[in-house]
Amino acid sequence: MKNALVILAGGKGERFSQKTPKQFYEKDGNAIINIFLSNLEINLFKFIVITINNKYVNIIKKSQCYLENKDKFIFASAGISRQQSSYNALKKISKFNIKNVLIHDAARPFCSNKLIKKILKNLEKNKNCIPYVEYSDRHINKYSKKDTKAINIQTPQGFDYKLIFKAHTQYKQDNFSDDASLIQKMNKKIFLIKGEKKNIKLTFSEDLIYLNIFNKPVLRSGIGFDIHRIDKNTKKGLILCGIKLPYSRLIGHSDADVGLHAICDSIFGALSMRDIGYHFPNSDKKWKNADSSKFVMFCKKKLEEKKFYIINLDINIIAEKPNISKYVKLMKKKISMLLNIQTQRISIKATTNEKIGFIGNGEGIAAEAIIQISNENIN
Ligand code: CTP
Ligand code: MG
Repeated sequence: MKNALVILAGGKGERFSQKTPKQFYEKDGNAIINIFLSNLEINLFKFIVITINNKYVNIIKKSQCYLENKDKFIFASAGISRQQSSYNALKKISKFNIKNVLIHDAARPFCSNKLIKKILKNLEKNKNCIPYVEYSDRHINKYSKKDTKAINIQTPQGFDYKLIFKAHTQYKQDNFSDDASLIQKMNKKIFLIKGEKKNIKLTFSEDLIYLNIFNKPVLRSGIGFDIHRIDKNTKKGLILCGIKLPYSRLIGHSDADVGLHAICDSIFGALSMRDIGYHFPNSDKKWKNADSSKFVMFCKKKLEEKKFYIINLDINIIAEKPNISKYVKLMKKKISMLLNIQTQRISIKATTNEKIGFIGNGEGIAAEAIIQISNENIN
């Protein structure tokens, strides 16, 4: 049966008092709503419906989650109230025979997949499932000063689709602050489960402190490998990691710098952006004898566009000859300049192939690179 997730991102965030609504506020280049999307186990849902003002749609469309799952995304227009936004989203999926729907505030980016799964599981036996948290502070009624026993209701709230759609249709003139209220208005029982303390709703600017506490940086790794044949008829012209070495050159369409090529592929890998052959095909005359530094600079631009920073880069060069140890310092300096990172973040190691195989008998040189990148600026 099909499940859908509704994400309400149509609010103005008036109490947050910033230029952009809170769900689009950026931390390390990542909008709050995209923090949630980047952690979401998207395969739990057939559809992701987002209520959003048109002018912010591009923020979602730039996210990796959207780019990899475009078919699942549906946008609905924001209503004047939260309740209207929610109804707009539900109407958008009325023709899809949805079994269960989870309705979530975009302003709660730290909800775990564990909670989402628990709600989906509970919907197998009940027609709604509402998470709550309890605080030990004394609750008083601000106006009557009487003590009350209170719990805090969270989202995502899970419902049988038909039930919540009916409730919204029936009470469309109302203005409730969550969807569970509509079920209560119908005089139906709501089924509560324990939510999560960290599933905070960002409401006021001061709530931004939770971003520092709960927002784990996104880490990604990438691997790259390249190998080229040595032109034994030459005595010089070898280029490795952007440095010229007095040794036979490598044969290739570009300058055949296996070191820089491996670095590029590690970056493309970490960004899930295919490979160097796709971006710089050796069938394209433009790249004939090209300086591979250009390829690395292209990768740096992509890292910047996607707002990722390099944590470290480790390179292996596999060559029987020449001995590259005396060039390592220069190579690191060159790479650090190309990628604009400190040399301490770069490691270059070299090994021979113990005279085994085609690298061992001096026919070629290979390089491999592994990189780790993060969306958190660690500089
Ligand atoms: N929401 C919505 N459409 C509205 C109002 C709210 O989709 N017309 C969404 C918000 O974007 C938020 C969630 O409902 O993710 C919870 O609402 P709330 O915390 O009240 O957010 P805002 O209405 O944006 O904030 P404020 O009330 O301070 O203006
Ligand atoms: Mg509001």
